[in-house]
Order: sequence, then C-alpha cells, then structure tokens
Amino acid sequence: MAEIGDIDKRVGLLLGKMTLREKIGQMVQVSYRGGGISDDLKHRLREGRIGSMLNGVPPEINAEIQRIAVEESRLGIPLIMGRDVVHGFRTIFPIPLGQAATWDPPLAEACARAAAGEAAAAGIHWTFAPMMDIARDPRWGRIAESFGEDPYLTSRFAEAAVRGFQGKDLAAPDAIAACAKHFAGYGAAEGGRDYDTANIPERLLRDVYLPPFKAAVDAGTATVMTAFNEIDGVPTTGNGRLLRGMLRDEWGFGGFVVSDWESVAEMVAHGFCEDDKEAAQKALAAGVDMEMQSSAYADHLESLVSEGAVPGKLIDNAVRRILKVKFGLGLFEKPPIYAASSSKAPSRENLDLAKQAALKSVVLLKNKNKILPLSKERSPIAVIGPLADDAYEILGTWNRDGRIEDTVTPLAGIRKLLGDSAEIHYAAGLEYSRSRDTGQFARAVELARQSKAVIFFGGEEAILSGEAHSRACLKLPGAQSELIEEIAGAGTPVVLVILAGRPLTIGDVSEKVDAVLYAWHPGTMGGSALADLIFGIEAPSGKLPVTFPQTEGQIPVYYAHKNTGRPPDRTPLTMLEDIPRRAAQSSLGDAARYLDIGYLPLYPFGYGLSYAEFAYGGLQISSDKIRRGENLRVSVQVTNIGNVDAEEVAQLYVRDLSASVTRPVKELKGFQRVRLKAKQTKTIVFDLSAEILGFHDGEMRYVVEPGEFHLWVGGDSRADLRAEFQIVE
Ligand code: GLC
Repeated sequence: MAEIGDIDKRVGLLLGKMTLREKIGQMVQVSYRGGGISDDLKHRLREGRIGSMLNGVPPEINAEIQRIAVEESRLGIPLIMGRDVVHGFRTIFPIPLGQAATWDPPLAEACARAAAGEAAAAGIHWTFAPMMDIARDPRWGRIAESFGEDPYLTSRFAEAAVRGFQGKDLAAPDAIAACAKHFAGYGAAEGGRDYDTANIPERLLRDVYLPPFKAAVDAGTATVMTAFNEIDGVPTTGNGRLLRGMLRDEWGFGGFVVSDWESVAEMVAHGFCEDDKEAAQKALAAGVDMEMQSSAYADHLESLVSEGAVPGKLIDNAVRRILKVKFGLGLFEKPPIYAASSSKAPSRENLDLAKQAALKSVVLLKNKNKILPLSKERSPIAVIGPLADDAYEILGTWNRDGRIEDTVTPLAGIRKLLGDSAEIHYAAGLEYSRSRDTGQFARAVELARQSKAVIFFGGEEAILSGEAHSRACLKLPGAQSELIEEIAGAGTPVVLVILAGRPLTIGDVSEKVDAVLYAWHPGTMGGSALADLIFGIEAPSGKLPVTFPQTEGQIPVYYAHKNTGRPPDRTPLTMLEDIPRRAAQSSLGDAARYLDIGYLPLYPFGYGLSYAEFAYGGLQISSDKIRRGENLRVSVQVTNIGNVDAEEVAQLYVRDLSASVTRPVKELKGFQRVRLKAKQTKTIVFDLSAEILGFHDGEMRYVVEPGEFHLWVGGDSRADLRAEFQIVE
C-alpha cells in the first residue's frame, strides 16, 4: 500500500489545481439508477461533476464507473462509493435494535467489522451507518434501525459500530468510512410519524439526543448525515447552530457532512427555502458539504459564487473535508477496485458471528412453569406461524445484499438441531404476517391439538418497519392474534416467538401462551440461534433496549422519565373497572397515570429473563462522598442461583435527587454482561465517574452539581438494590 503521506498537504495541492466546477463536483452525490452507465453519467464523470455515488451498483458497473472517473477525467479523483450497510452486507446480523438487545457493544463492533470486510471487497468505501437516533416511540418505523431509547446504551453502540466499520486504519483494504446519522433529533418525530416535526427543547437535545453523536465523533466517525426533520422550525439540513455550532465548533468534528436523500431540496417543501437555489445557499452556509441525490448544489452553487452570494472559501472548505476522507480511505492509493468481486457467499466465520449476535439479541419475556427450554422428548412438536419458515422477512429492514439462500429459517434451524430425535410438523397457519385469510387455521389448530408443544413464529414482515413505515396500531398484524388464540385453545403449551422491528403491544397474546421470546429480526442465522435457545443449547440473555408500552395510548413511555410533582405511585391506584358509580372526584387519587391502564409498561427497559436466575447482593461503594473529577467505585455480587450456565447483564442506574433543573428518576450509567456457571458468584465492579452525572443547566452549560444521589444495580431498570452518595464541592 503506497504511503498516504501528509494528507493535508496532498489535499491542498489537489485543491489548488481544481476549477470551481470540479470543486462543486466533489460535493455532488448521485444514486445509480440501474440500466447501465448512461452517456449523461459518463459525461458528468469525465467532467469531474460527481464526487460520490450510492445505492451500490453491480460490481462490474461499479468498477467501470470508477474507471471512467479515475482514468477519463482531468484530475482522476476517485468516487467514494456509499451504501446502506446497516446491519450487514452479505451476512445479515440482527437489526440494530436487536444488536442493542445484546447489551454487548464489542459484539456489535465485531459485526460491523465483518460487514466492512464484505462491503469493501465489493467496492464499497462508505456506509450510511451507524444510525444512532434515540427512539422512544415504537410507532416510528425507524426504531428498528436505532439502538433504542437510552443515550448511554446508544452511545456505547454508536462508538462500537464506528470502530467496527473503520477499523484501526481507514486506508486498510477491509475498512469503510462510517456515517453517524441522522443528525439530529429524527427519532422525536411527532406521533412517531416518520419525517414529521421534532420539537425538542435544547436541554433535551443536548442531554438525550446528541450524546450518541458526540460519542461517534469522539470515536472518529469520518462522516455525519443530516436528518429529514426540522427541529423547532429549522430543518437540520439548514441548521447552522446544529452543524457549524455544535458539531464543528463545540465538538471539533473534522470529517464531512452529507445531507440525507434530497433533504437539501426538501427544505423548499418544509417552507424554509423559496427554491432550490436558496436551499443550496442555506445548506452550504449551515455546513452541509455533500448533497445526496437532489441537484441544488450541482445546479446553483456556481452561480451563487459568481453572484457573491456564497464565498468561495465555503466551497473550498467543504471540498477539503471530502478529499481528506478520500485520501484517508487510501482511494488514491488502493488498487482502484475496478474488479470489485461480486458479493461472495458468507464465510463460516461471519455466519458463526451472526449466530452469536442473534443468540444474545433474543429476549425471554415470559416462561410460565419453565416450559422453556423445550425437551426434544416433548414430541411431536408443531412449528406454526407466518414467520416460521420465511427466509426473507427474518433479515429485517435495510437489508440490501443479504440473500435468502444464505438464511437459516426457524423451521430449518429446529429440524437441523433435532434431526430425527423428535417429530416436527409444520403449518404456516397464515401465509404472511398481514394475512387475514383464516383458511389454514383449522389445519394449524388440529396440528397443535395432536402435538405436545407448539412453537409459534409470528410478528412483522420486514416491510412493516424501517424508513417511512410508521404504524399507529402496534398489535400483531393480520389475523395472527386470532390464530394464536385458537391454537392456545387446543390446550397444548405454546411458545410464542416474535420477529419484529419494534416493540408490539402483545399483552393480550402473551397472556394466552406459556412463553414469549422476542427475537427482533435476527438475520441470516436467526433460525439456528432460535433453535438453540428454544431447546436449551444456550440460555436467552438479551435485555430490552426499549420500553414496551401496554398500549399505543401510553406512548411516549420510557424509563428515564421525570418524577413530576405528582408521581404515578404517590396515591393508591384505582383501576377503571374498580371505580364505584358516582365516585367522589378526589377518591381516585391525583397522580401522573391513567385510569384504565395505570402507569407501568408492559415490559420495562433493560428487562429480560433467563433459564437461570440471578441474585444481586453485597452492594458496596468506595465512598459516600465524591468530588467532581473523581470516580466512585461500585461493586456488587451477582450469583447464578439457577441450575444452568447463563449470561446476565448487570445494569447500573443513577438518580440526581435535586438539581438546578429536574432530572430523570433513573439514568443508565453502566452495564456489564457476565457469564456465570450454575451457583457461581462473581463480583462486578463499576467505576462511576462524577463527570457523567452532569447535565445542561439553565444557561446550557454542562455542569456536575453537588447534591444527593441514589444508585441502583440490578438486572433491569426496576433495579432496587440501592446505595446513596453525595457529590460535594
Ligand atoms: C434514506 C435514509 C438514510 C439512507 C439514505 C441512503 O432516505 O434516510 O438513512 O442512508 O437515504 O439510502
């Protein structure tokens, strides 16, 4: 590999040779639209009018496009090829929400590393990932791509994914540039409606929505992508306070910013710009270096500069940042990937990694009478449901290069695991998740009746989550609930496995079955992992990265909520059905809750059962007083009081009881995944720095205030093993 040398010097030399038109060309990203390389595209490549392409092209087309750009243009600047390698390239890992459920950032880093290797070999230089939008509304389809509701957990996964994609050397042949997206506040869309307005007070923005991006910048992400939404009237793509103010001036981000798909031009629809020309001017002024897909930059920047409306140095600075990433990737040195290999079949190593990730992502929500793990002696076994043998849906949203022929479906995984040691019978019951055709019900119910156990695989097709796929009703789609109810009526124990891209309101169906496993969309090896979990080869160890609401009306519901002046548990709770006729106004208590469902979630953040049981004790802290800049050492003993080896995720939560602004009742500030043999005890130690207990005060300064704090350690956000300490001046 040729020595990259002094990138800044090389960028400066190249920039000095470029015409204005060629500079603007570097700021233009267009999507390959299929159908081969048009004459117009060839012309624009030869003119140096395109700096990047996306949506991955067949490798041979990719190679020819790159060849034209490098060999037939005046300066031969390689294109940076982008693609949504969100949770895998050819080997598909669990969707990011599922990866977050592993609470294992190093595992997610390994998945990103593997994906980078596969993508780079196919000529991809840049992924539009990790997505790190805080998501507290499961109606929002893109919660599937997020790492959930919590800033601390999301930050750990965001930095891990950046490290995974980029590796230690961005110029290495298996490294691709990461892209922290969508900056910022996209997950706060009103009503969970994708693209809708986000009204986020600055303190909430800085304390909840921005920390994962700061973690990604500190981890060295090469790029950042803006979001489609506005924040309080200003679209992020035209938001100078956000892009130049926070991202560049406060955080020192040195990479480049790309818009989201046509989000520059969409500022006209937002009503923030009169036309594309003004959109180009505002986006550049705000700090967008590269425009994805729309052509405001290509069409108007040259005239804006000649009219003196845009200073040429803004263009130079944008191009300098883009070229720095291209040089940093070694694109000028790498043997131009003209012969990018078409996507090869997944390696055994990557498939094993995908299985590990799937195994750790699945969350055990219910296990009545310890029906799980199933014994193969419980034969015959009925495998039923629209997602039991579907090789496509299990891959989830944002799958671009995963292939169904690589997938192990749940039915295939169970059959492979059990061989002929048990009788396995299969009935879909419903052809696909949204189907309301009950024509196959009778056969499925009869099969259940004749079996000793039923494993029902239901949930959402992949298309029901992801971008532009918000849902207002979060029940199981189609007639799945009805089918589950009829099957449960057959009297055979039922294990329900849900594959979905979001929390669903599954309270009703959960009551009708004996066990519930939540598998998200677990990817290429999901079926193999589920077989191992259901039959006890491995115990489930996933924990929820997002709160499950009882019903949509409860949304937003998340654990790190404020206490309010009338906390939900301050007076006895009288449920709707227990209210006496003509009850006195004051008789129902006066607290922040609902008459019909109270205030508890269906399942809390951090929750997940195991085939073992874990006891926490011996909580000790190194001092009951610490100062700013100091650490508090927290140790706790965790014992596996069960009879099988298993893994637990110990979680550390903290509360600042009183501060200059109100603080959440709990905030996750540490977690550790630990493997414990049956009856084994381990001591887990957290080093809690006072610095991370701060927040943005009334003047928007990040402060760590003195005062009383509580901390808890446990297996989910209801942790009640408590210690108290103070931060003192
Ligand atoms: C999309 C998404 C973004 C993605 C980009 C390129 O609309 O919002 O996450 O990376 O376009 O596909």
